[in-house]
Amino acid sequence: MARHLVTSALPYINGIKHLGNMVGSMLPADVYSRYLRRRGHDVLYICATDEHGTPAELAAKERGLPVDEFCAQAHEAQKAVYDGFELAFDYFGRSSSAQNVEITQHFARRLNENGFIEERAVRQVYSPADGRFLPDRYVEGTCPHCGYDKARGDQCENCTRVLDPTDLIAPRSAISGSTDLEVRETTHLFLLQSKLQGEVEAWIDEVGEDWPQLSSSIARKWLTEGLHDRAITRDLDWGVPVPADTWPELAAEGKVFYVWFDAPIEYIAGTKEWADAAPAGEVRDWKSWWYEADGGADPVRYTQFMAKDNVPFHTVMFPATELGVREPWKKVDYVKGFNWLTYYGGKFSTSQKRGVFTDHALDILPADYWRYFLVANAPESDDSSFTWEHFAATVNKDLADTLGNFVNRVLTFSRKRFGDEVPAGGTAGPAEAKLGEDIARLLAEYEEQMERLQFRKAAAALRALWSAGNSYLEEKAPWLEIKTDPEGAALTLRTGMNLIHLYAVVSEPFIPATSRSMRSAFALADDTAAWVSAGQAAALDAVPAGTGFTVPPVLFGKISEEDLESYRSRFGGGG
Ligand code: 2FM
Ligand code: ZN
Repeated sequence: MARHLVTSALPYINGIKHLGNMVGSMLPADVYSRYLRRRGHDVLYICATDEHGTPAELAAKERGLPVDEFCAQAHEAQKAVYDGFELAFDYFGRSSSAQNVEITQHFARRLNENGFIEERAVRQVYSPADGRFLPDRYVEGTCPHCGYDKARGDQCENCTRVLDPTDLIAPRSAISGSTDLEVRETTHLFLLQSKLQGEVEAWIDEVGEDWPQLSSSIARKWLTEGLHDRAITRDLDWGVPVPADTWPELAAEGKVFYVWFDAPIEYIAGTKEWADAAPAGEVRDWKSWWYEADGGADPVRYTQFMAKDNVPFHTVMFPATELGVREPWKKVDYVKGFNWLTYYGGKFSTSQKRGVFTDHALDILPADYWRYFLVANAPESDDSSFTWEHFAATVNKDLADTLGNFVNRVLTFSRKRFGDEVPAGGTAGPAEAKLGEDIARLLAEYEEQMERLQFRKAAAALRALWSAGNSYLEEKAPWLEIKTDPEGAALTLRTGMNLIHLYAVVSEPFIPATSRSMRSAFALADDTAAWVSAGQAAALDAVPAGTGFTVPPVLFGKISEEDLESYRSRFGGGG
């Protein structure tokens, strides 16, 4: 038994996420955490909403709400969707929490004491009409290189050139459209990442070796380009305030930390939120998960999940911050990065409402349909494409036919011929021995792929476990056997019921609700937390003869041509 800390990239607060966001972070993190818990490990899975920054301010403005109220509501709305998907966070916090303010300010003070923060004067665009400094991306204008008239101050989307807001021709505020813009000088805190380059490199040499290729190549690329000093404060109303005890003037000007400075610190602060929320009588030691005291608590293995655009921040910038603090904060051990899930080969787009949003997904089908499909097709080694046709084919074949039908056929037929208890029947023969061997081998494969965080391969092994049951049933054909050898048919059905029980245990990380439904078909003492060893799995005897059972409602409905048509027209199909 080991201690596993798991985090997934914090979803931005400004809107319900689409399926592409979830498949590259929270969902696989949940599958992995559930698997580890089932294997008996001590797991802490922390996530939170990422609440600071200009997009949150603008979304609040659009809704006509004060930003704190907007964030409180939007947090609850996202949380409800994640509950619907059965994401079993140990805690789902908020980066605007008091705990994050405290720890972020502590980090900044320590970085300053250690010589890694410097005040620098910068020239920035100010909009008198908006009464604020404009972040680079909120200055729009014509690109000096290609003439595109909606270029942003940080980059031109058309020709991809990196820009400075002062490069733009005819600049205007993206917030109000005002063209009355000035350049003013203001002071910001800079994190001297360049001084930490060598330490980050040495750390990655040490731990990055067994990271997936996607994560390590992105980290190396950033290091090769060199770590640059970065401004870590902003002139915004909403954010973690710069502490007045250390920077009284900047604090008086109302400066706050940049959202990417405080967001990863929320992984730590979210753990403190979890501890502070402990029910009376329960002691939760948040620091033992994060602070590596000499010879203290058991070591923790820390795994992070994120899409590839977040990899640089997690493999290079946040570790640089942690190193510069000069305190033994836990750094990530394994970074699981994901490519993009596309919608018919194109981008899922929150702003253009293209693709499927997580709340709408749950409107049309239960979570397990999505969980299985998404994780089995996770964009691990490459981008992968969501299409309704692929989704329907997978649901119909793997979930409805291979798993659902098996469960229904075995239980219905047994009840019809032998009543409401698992039948006794004869003793296992060569077919059961072969099945036992196949199951043990496939279970070992499934476990190995889960340990390696290879989710597509793990899903393939799970599917193969389900198929093995079908092959066995087809071979034994109890509906024929019953005519000549009722004892043999009873053995076949009892073996089938043991397979259902095994499926309930091992499928739980992917399809928790269906797993409960399969498990509760049997009147067994509660053993839901127990995993199965290869030996037990091969023996197929966890459900003894005489155990009462019921037939659960159909586990997965099939998606018809008509359903498909309606999804395509509601969400937009290919093209
Ligand atoms: O890209 C995003 O969605 C960010 N909100 C991820 C933040 S991860 C972290 F470091 F907090
Ligand atoms: Zn351009």
